[in-house]
Amino acid sequence: MTKVALVGGSGGIGAALLSLLSDRSDIESIHSTYFRSPAAGSLGSIGRFGSDTEVVWSQVDVTDETNVERWLEKAGSIDWLINCAGYLHDLDAAPEKAIAQFEPDYFEKNMRVNCLPNLLLAKHAGKALKSSERGIFASITAKVGSIEDNRLGGWYSYRASKAAANMVLKNLSIEWQRTAPNLRVVALHPGTTDTKLSAPFQSRVSPDKLFSTDKTASYLLAQLDKLHEYPSGRFVAFDGEELPW
Ligand SMILES: NC(=O)c1ccc[n+]([C@@H]2O[C@H](COP(=O)([O-])OP(=O)(O)OC[C@H]3O[C@@H](n4cnc5c(N)ncnc54)[C@H](OP(=O)(O)O)[C@@H]3O)[C@@H](O)[C@H]2O)c1
Repeated sequence: MTKVALVGGSGGIGAALLSLLSDRSDIESIHSTYFRSPAAGSLGSIGRFGSDTEVVWSQVDVTDETNVERWLEKAGSIDWLINCAGYLHDLDAAPEKAIAQFEPDYFEKNMRVNCLPNLLLAKHAGKALKSSERGIFASITAKVGSIEDNRLGGWYSYRASKAAANMVLKNLSIEWQRTAPNLRVVALHPGTTDTKLSAPFQSRVSPDKLFSTDKTASYLLAQLDKLHEYPSGRFVAFDGEELPW
């Protein structure tokens, strides 16, 4: 039985993953975080979906080390940690089309939400994950964080924060390979998914390339399920394609 710690179970992709995971008989419990409000339809701080899977909600600012440490202490032993938190735009800021639009505050927020949590989560979940026979540390980054794949430019802050997150994950895989050969670290690209994060940028995406959150979640879960067939430290797309860093 697998115990999951899910960061951002209140977001578009995170909530769909939570729903799929909580319906599986091999998932014992899910400790899920929300930042502003829990996923729609979930009740109270401890909820049960269709199966016997226990879902425990905690309000966590995943950029705050004390919050992260307390939450992971409360979660106790875990097998999988999946980080679905992320930031791209808000009422005040949007991705840059050109360097002239660069704003330090927006850059720092991207780094703080998209990169920093991976370090905090790894620091405080490492011990528990290493004790699992089939541990997973997975974080949703993005294909636009690939340096080699960058052909369009733009989106300086978001791209940089996702590239930095990818470096953190690669680094972790190298460190943990020595001390925890059963643990797999993965950076996941979900594909363009219909969530509030991508909403302002969907007009140029063809309908067959814009996934529902349910479709993305089932693709990502399929990748997680076969992760132990591969070495640790990969950057993998929803369809299993191995992406260049
Ligand atoms: N959607 C896409 O097309 C797409 C494509 C490539 C990569 N991604 C990546 O996929 C991941 C999930 O994105 P999504 O589309 O599901 O976005 P979303 O619906 O906007 O969800 C973002 C999640 O991040 C949480 N969050 C933000 N700041 C936080 C903080 N300081 N502490 C804790 N949680 C925080 C939000 O919590 P609250 O809702 O409670 O505020 C929410 O659960 C992100 O990393 C994103 O960059 C998405």
